[in-house]
Amino acid sequence: MEDTVARFERMAFGMFIHFGLYSLVGKGEWHLKLNGWQDREQYRRLTEKFRVKKNWAKEVAAVAKKAGCRYITLTTRHHDGFSLYDTCGLSEYDAVHALCGRDLIAEFVEACRKYDLVPVFYHTFADWDREEYESDFPAYLQYLQASVKLLCTRYGEIGGIWFDGMFEKPDADWQEDKLYAMIRAYQPRAIIVNNSGLTAQGKLRHPEIDCVTFERGKPFLTNWQDRHRAAEMCQVLNEHWGYAKMDIHYKTIGELLGNFIECRKFGCNFLLNTGLKGDGSVNEMDRGIFEGIGKWIARYNKIIYSLKPAKIDCDGGDVFTDGSRYYVLIRDVGMDADPNVTLHGKCKRVQIKGAQPIRTAKWFDTKESIEVEENSFLVKPYWYGESMCVRVAQIWF
Ligand code: GLC
Repeated sequence: MEDTVARFERMAFGMFIHFGLYSLVGKGEWHLKLNGWQDREQYRRLTEKFRVKKNWAKEVAAVAKKAGCRYITLTTRHHDGFSLYDTCGLSEYDAVHALCGRDLIAEFVEACRKYDLVPVFYHTFADWDREEYESDFPAYLQYLQASVKLLCTRYGEIGGIWFDGMFEKPDADWQEDKLYAMIRAYQPRAIIVNNSGLTAQGKLRHPEIDCVTFERGKPFLTNWQDRHRAAEMCQVLNEHWGYAKMDIHYKTIGELLGNFIECRKFGCNFLLNTGLKGDGSVNEMDRGIFEGIGKWIARYNKIIYSLKPAKIDCDGGDVFTDGSRYYVLIRDVGMDADPNVTLHGKCKRVQIKGAQPIRTAKWFDTKESIEVEENSFLVKPYWYGESMCVRVAQIWF
């Protein structure tokens, strides 16, 4: 398992996609539950409008690739019970029976292969639609197991399965042993994730889990006695996972890059979400943010995936190493030019503590030398014409 986990960690940055019938409504992925059960039939009828455009998967994969993502985690089935994959007769509530009439997971996997991105399948344990979920739990578990088997056997090698939704019945026996053993048998290189949710950040819920989660959270260092495990923070661009037309509460690119650095400080992956629109397209706002992040990642892509925390104390920045070289990542770098056009005049100071003396230092982007005194230096702001939020200094001890 070690290699699989290490391979996952090296991917560092993934795109999370929430896509389903709820995308047509544009009020988030919990629409069915939060708008009352009386709407269930009406909700099901969304299948009649689920017309997904032909190249949806390639388009979103292209956005992920350009942003610097190395994998995509897509909701193959969310809590509303609707599957984007062909359930091969297990249920009629799937994409092949909807207006689009296609197996959207097959298209997704094909697009990932085209862009050299690793596909990861999100699948929920919960089901707000299936009768047996309430009336005959053992039968429901069989259905769930058979569903996951399809995902493990019909799409070639996958990067992992990302479970969610156990919070619905926290005391139930979900037969995780059986489910995870099946995944190991069919997909020995897939990582198994089970989201511990907002209230149990970084918690390991089962020994077979390869990666713990920090949902919208602040990652911290996890250290397991039995074996190495990865960690991943998932984050929303605004406030919803599923597409929400009226959610304008977006984070800035600077904040999101800050989240990414915070993740890497603890060796954690960053999984950044977009909620696709009902026809499978990426909404313009999300596309723009992913593009912005991509510009920053492109500038630093030679180092960004291999950085590990250097365990060196630093005020004003975070020190990373790729094993032989050292880098300081500095957030919230302003822009400074003429005082009549830019606001930022003040320079930030970085102070490295408790390390050997720095011999030389250079800005990674311009290769300019940095004047260092007693392991401290001033952060040069961006000059009029560009402002990239986070700047990287390379240092030599
Ligand atoms: C929560 C939500 C779910 C969402 C997930 C993503 O578990 O219930 O809707 O898909 O977080 O992390």
